[in-house]
Amino acid sequence: MSAILEEAARRRTFAIISHPDAGKTTLTEKLLLYGGAVTEAGAVGAARKGRRAATSDWMEIERQRGISVTSTVLRFAYRDAIVNLLDTPGHHDFSEDTLRVLAAADCAVMLLDAARGVEAQTLRLFEVAQARGIPLLTFVNKYDRPGLEPLEMLDHIESVLGLAPHPLVWPVGIPGDFRGVVDRRRETFHRFTRTARGATRAAEEILSAEQAAAAEADAWPAAAEELELLDAVAPELDLEAFAVGRATPVFFGSAVSNFGVGLLLDALLELAPSPKPRPTTGGEPRPLDAPFSALVFKVQANMDPRHRDRVAFLRVCSGRFERGMRATNARTGRPFAMAHAHELFGDERAVIDDAYPGDVLGVVNAADLRVGDTLHLDPPVRFEPIPTLAPEHFVTVRNRDSSRHKQFQRGLAQLAEEGVVHLLRRDPTADPTPVLAGVGPLQFEVAVDRLDREFGVPVGLDATSWVAARLTDEPGAEVVRRSSFADLLYRSDGELMALFTSDYMLERFAADHPDVRLDRLLTR
Ligand code: G4P
Repeated sequence: MSAILEEAARRRTFAIISHPDAGKTTLTEKLLLYGGAVTEAGAVGAARKGRRAATSDWMEIERQRGISVTSTVLRFAYRDAIVNLLDTPGHHDFSEDTLRVLAAADCAVMLLDAARGVEAQTLRLFEVAQARGIPLLTFVNKYDRPGLEPLEMLDHIESVLGLAPHPLVWPVGIPGDFRGVVDRRRETFHRFTRTARGATRAAEEILSAEQAAAAEADAWPAAAEELELLDAVAPELDLEAFAVGRATPVFFGSAVSNFGVGLLLDALLELAPSPKPRPTTGGEPRPLDAPFSALVFKVQANMDPRHRDRVAFLRVCSGRFERGMRATNARTGRPFAMAHAHELFGDERAVIDDAYPGDVLGVVNAADLRVGDTLHLDPPVRFEPIPTLAPEHFVTVRNRDSSRHKQFQRGLAQLAEEGVVHLLRRDPTADPTPVLAGVGPLQFEVAVDRLDREFGVPVGLDATSWVAARLTDEPGAEVVRRSSFADLLYRSDGELMALFTSDYMLERFAADHPDVRLDRLLTR
């Protein structure tokens, strides 16, 4: 095997998806703790709090509301593997950001709160992950608190998500009185002891079934009975169904007290796929050991407000990245020198010397790069575009300072390129009041704030009556232009969008014109 294939096979690149408060930050820290990347949990949270305190720009919104808008990438070595953990924002309004991050991930951990199960944002992100067809591992968190019985939780996952759950670990003790978990495949009982605030690894005793029966005489019989039942109905995880996101291995645990975190991390190494050749537009997937190529999945301005920088995040898709390398941007055909590629660990940046498929690089001051761009060495390649979500909120944006017309236009274009908002116009050439569209209104707050701070343009927003949008094509646009049920708008990247003022109008239009293309997942 070539060195590149060997390195790729060691990579595990994944993201955690969850509803806010399910424990994503806590689990992330505990994975770092168990992965040996930190010796005491709390560093990432503290760094994040520190960053919040230090920022003055649009991330102020993040600070004020206590929500995570930005994403970071955490990379660490564990056993023989290199783990790349991509952080995603938890807030619904930033689901498109999550979609972009998932475009760079090979797998996701779906985190559920034992008491709440699948929540609104979990469902939404689950749909996004399903659209990518990536495998999902499920971690049922907060089992140290009262919640659903484990069998109820499995039913719940299956009925709400239509996903076949397969527990690989099984909890012993009732929710709220959690003793440990059985590793079903190894038939061992992992008995946990808490440490102070879970800052260090939980002491763990590994017992056989007989020893467990003696040590947990009150809690064991119920678990043993359930395990027998599970063995009878679902003895093995269906690996094929898992690979395409139709079955999910389930883990029970408590991130705050570290229960079950080590088992989850080990399972990630074992089950999560390593990078695969990535599909390209109009060609064969790019082999992992082909010359270097990478996909830009996220562009973030002002990560560091002191520098007003713009960081492009790239996922390496083939070959070996070497510092200082010059690649070609497939969209522009222009060379791009990667002198400033960084590895990002939380807020810390370190210059990276080499990277392999599955790894994520942050390129600083990457003004020429846009989300969805492919960088490559020869032979040329272009990866499939990253989809966007159908907007559900629409406002018109007014420039309140006519002397700053150019800055207004430039600012809007940049925000659209970064994917902060969708920029729509009624007339593709001149439209004094463009429309901003997004999945949630917080996207508009970010846009207004950035137009003001970065481009010095005060803007006003006005409500519109649209509530839904679908992507269409030129024949569809013709039908939309003639219809009184829909409006046609032009997106800044040239896509054609049909906008509707009610779901009823959308349904009527779709029913009247079954041949018109109306896509919910919008491809850039
Ligand atoms: P998020 O990133 O998904 O939004 O969640 P985060 O990790 O911040 O966790 C949300 C809250 O849930 C935190 O409590 C956290 O301590 C708690 N939590 C996380 N995992 C567990 C768990 O396994 N069991 C229990 N019982 N609680 C858990 P908080 O009160 O908001 O903050 P803190 O003061 O405890 O840090």
